[in-house]
Amino acid sequence: MTKPTDVEFEFGVPIPGKILEPARWTKTALKKLPAVGPLDVTALFGRRAPLVVDLGCGNGRFLLGSALARPDFDHIGIDILPMVLRYATRRGNQRGLGNLRFAAIDAQRFVAEYLTPGSVREIHCYHPQPYHIARDRSKRLLTPRFLADVHHVVEPAGMIFVQTDNAPYWRYLQQVLPGFFDFHEQNGSWPDTPRGRTRREIIAMKRGYPVFRGWGTRKGMSAEEAVQRAESLPLPTFDAGPRYRDLDEMERLKEPRTE
Ligand SMILES: C[S@@+](CC[C@H](N)C(=O)[O-])C[C@H]1O[C@@H](n2cnc3c(N)ncnc32)[C@H](O)[C@@H]1O
Repeated sequence: MTKPTDVEFEFGVPIPGKILEPARWTKTALKKLPAVGPLDVTALFGRRAPLVVDLGCGNGRFLLGSALARPDFDHIGIDILPMVLRYATRRGNQRGLGNLRFAAIDAQRFVAEYLTPGSVREIHCYHPQPYHIARDRSKRLLTPRFLADVHHVVEPAGMIFVQTDNAPYWRYLQQVLPGFFDFHEQNGSWPDTPRGRTRREIIAMKRGYPVFRGWGTRKGMSAEEAVQRAESLPLPTFDAGPRYRDLDEMERLKEPRTE
């Protein structure tokens, strides 16, 4: 039996699902990726199902909700920081999810080396780091070349979902995303998660900062055409403006625990 205390909250918003009794826990940490890709996703999940990938998934809040709501879809969350994945995997395990895995790896490497062409139904990327210091601009994740790689691994009618609370990053994405996806802006929060899909989004909404959201369906073009298109698009060298220090501090706050 689950107890009411088994519901966890983050900044007042419930984390999807409940902690099950330990006999039903699973193992969602993908501790060792093969040294060389691609990843055999069918073997990993023991079935063929539409694949949802979250790049820079942080504490995995979005994927927990999606994996619970869509048991017929498989989900992989990756993040470069193993620390943040501890929260994601612990919650995935405690919710008994068999359709979810998390791995610590750089997103560009994961997409280029571990995902096969046309294999992903949905790519999600929520609040990629804007990098406010000029010398860090080259670390920005969503470059045209990376978007060409994302385009390559997405199914023919597959989709991308992105959001940020950084207005300059959003203006940049408005410029480059339509090169690869039929792009639409999402006005207001996502209908399935009106209080926020991710930790960063919840914090931004609580503090009253705007959140920019959008989604797109893959454009029909070959990998070579996508790479050519990438070469014609600007690099993300924009000035990200000042940091929202209050948001960054809230983000660093310790995660709640229910144990
Ligand atoms: C601002 S946080 C957002 C986390 C989560 N998506 C959310 O919205 O709450 C950005 C995340 O991206 C991760 N990250 C940064 N660069 C990355 C990269 N190159 N590959 C994978 N993850 C990355 C960071 O470790 C961090 O967890």
